[in-house]
Amino acid sequence: PLVSMKEMLENGKENGYAVGQFNINNLEYIQAILQAAEEEKSPVILGVSEGAAKYMGGFKVVVAMVKALMEEYGTTVPVAIHLDHGSSFEKCAQAIHAGFTSVMIDASHSPIDENIATTKKVVELAHIHGVSVEAEVGTVGGEEDGVIGGISYADAQECVRLVKEAGIDCLAPALGSVHGPYQGEPNLGFKEMEEILNLTGVPLVLHGGTGIPTKDIEKAISLGTAKINVNTENQMAQAKAVREVLNAKPELYDPRKYLGPGTEAIKQTVIGKMREFGSSNKA
Ligand code: G3H
Ligand code: ZN
Repeated sequence: PLVSMKEMLENGKENGYAVGQFNINNLEYIQAILQAAEEEKSPVILGVSEGAAKYMGGFKVVVAMVKALMEEYGTTVPVAIHLDHGSSFEKCAQAIHAGFTSVMIDASHSPIDENIATTKKVVELAHIHGVSVEAEVGTVGGEEDGVIGGISYADAQECVRLVKEAGIDCLAPALGSVHGPYQGEPNLGFKEMEEILNLTGVPLVLHGGTGIPTKDIEKAISLGTAKINVNTENQMAQAKAVREVLNAKPELYDPRKYLGPGTEAIKQTVIGKMREFGSSNKA
């Protein structure tokens, strides 16, 4: 069923696993991720950036595609449709009214008082609709949707204020993670993660899941991380598979013949992540 993230993340935090957020870009991503989740008996979060939603035709098209596929597949595992890095109250409201079951309001670039005020507004609307809310403190490195940020670590006291004053369901404290591939090994702030977990008590979210070594994933989960976002890794797996087919058979033009292997590559990547995050057989 289509649900908010609330319960799946509380369960993950209590039982020592993380639910993957896998970003979608088109129909094939939804197919691959829903199939992986059902086979693995894993809860799953479909992440939708504003740019990706626009590419697919808008929030309503996204919700319609997800609902239709879930019905067609007879999906039994919990699925959340989540706005990734929502840029404003208005965008979050549009997503909620289109049927998203979860939103992230990312006002982390604003001063903390403004971040809290905007987030609080989103929470008030979202909770009326049974929609869960994620918010961020600090800056994730790298690029997303054209916005390039340098890394800045989340301040623990600001995290406490955002959680308590805005009433969010989960928190993304930026602690050294990066969108896209890492240059060398990531340097995650585990000491800060532990402090933030102890002070806030909410499930934590790790952005920039691509390229984080398993030992760091395990450590993060042991420190309350109950949601891990993965985007780039699926895109790379898909592109590699499509490129191989097209390179091997330059005369090919049927999209089913070159996109199909790309979809299978996404599915296998997602299955690997679900096992690594410990969410398999937790639905
Ligand atoms: O919000 C999306 C994620 O943080 C994705 O990060 O592309 O590095 O896997 P990634
Ligand atoms: Zn992110």
